[in-house]
Amino acid sequence: FHVSTDASEADKGAYPYYMLKEIDEQPGVMRSLIKHYVAEDGSIKIAPELLTKLNNADRLYIVAAGTSYHAGLVGREIFEGLTKIPTEVHVASEFAYNPPLLSQKPFFIFLTQSGETADSRQVLSLVNQWGYQSLTITNVENSTLSREATHTLLLYAGPEIAVASTKAYTGQIALEALLAKAMGAQKGLTTAANFEVAQELTKVANGMQELVDEKAQIEKIATAALATTRNAFYIGRAIDYDIAQEAALKLKEVSYVQTEGFASGELKHGTIALIEKDTPVVAIITDAKTAKHTRSNAQEVLARGANVIYIVSRALAEEGDQIVLPDVHPLLTPLLAIVPCQLLAYYTSLQRGYDVDKPRNLAKSVTVE
Ligand code: G6P
Repeated sequence: FHVSTDASEADKGAYPYYMLKEIDEQPGVMRSLIKHYVAEDGSIKIAPELLTKLNNADRLYIVAAGTSYHAGLVGREIFEGLTKIPTEVHVASEFAYNPPLLSQKPFFIFLTQSGETADSRQVLSLVNQWGYQSLTITNVENSTLSREATHTLLLYAGPEIAVASTKAYTGQIALEALLAKAMGAQKGLTTAANFEVAQELTKVANGMQELVDEKAQIEKIATAALATTRNAFYIGRAIDYDIAQEAALKLKEVSYVQTEGFASGELKHGTIALIEKDTPVVAIITDAKTAKHTRSNAQEVLARGANVIYIVSRALAEEGDQIVLPDVHPLLTPLLAIVPCQLLAYYTSLQRGYDVDKPRNLAKSVTVE
């Protein structure tokens, strides 16, 4: 008689790997956030006291590491768009030793899946010494960063086991949208009032479902373009550059393909020298303002032999684009665009014969500096 003591093993169900299970859970994470944070009358269930403190700040400082840092980059677009409060995003390990000059009334937001990352903890203890208020957005109740910050908002995403973070990234972005909506609404801003967050996140959940249901197509692209490559690039501008950075981290951490996420306009200032015949370049295009420009950058690498793969929102799609995303609110496109990128990383890792859940040299939570 054998009793399994590994509860997480049982949780994997029919899935071969946690990473795939967690990618598939993302539509559910969106719905769970709506359930936890949106009241029947459409108002957001976040303490008004916290919203007031945030709205009284003259600048928001988002501090995080790894994938959570990338969720912070998208957060900057969301907070500035919906609350009009200038927002900076900092890598925790840099902030700790080289803090920026702070504004008069700063407010600190820590993004952390685990709530235990040492680099972020170090910044929070500085912030506490300085006597400033803070909020931790985390997936783990009672984690250290939750206990040591003034306020906590939980992701309710369920345990994330795979080392490469997926549903925590999309959960963090969705929760940033809920928070920014509530802040903007408290301030009486029209942009926030017009942003129907529950409706928009429901659209996102449905769109994510469509994308995870198209796995076979993504697997084919991974096989054809990424299975044997030495390096790869993700390119985009504005919010699409934010996505490109997370997409590149996903691919490199599980497949060991040297990958860069690049601002597509910056390529010509150096990095384009690395483009050779068949170098995979994934162009992310979800932003109407920059779509044309990113397409012309993609043409430049195509002319140098690159194998360009387009991931494009439906409204901006052209014939021949390989991956077309359902249309959602412009601030929420990362929630959809990242899904095929996560799947590309997953399948590339499998094709190369790696344990996608436990990539070499990496830990789920880095509790040492
Ligand atoms: C580790 C993990 C990453 C994660 C980062 C930050 O490096 O391997 O996947 O993004 O820590 O973790 P946190 O728990 O603070 O979000």
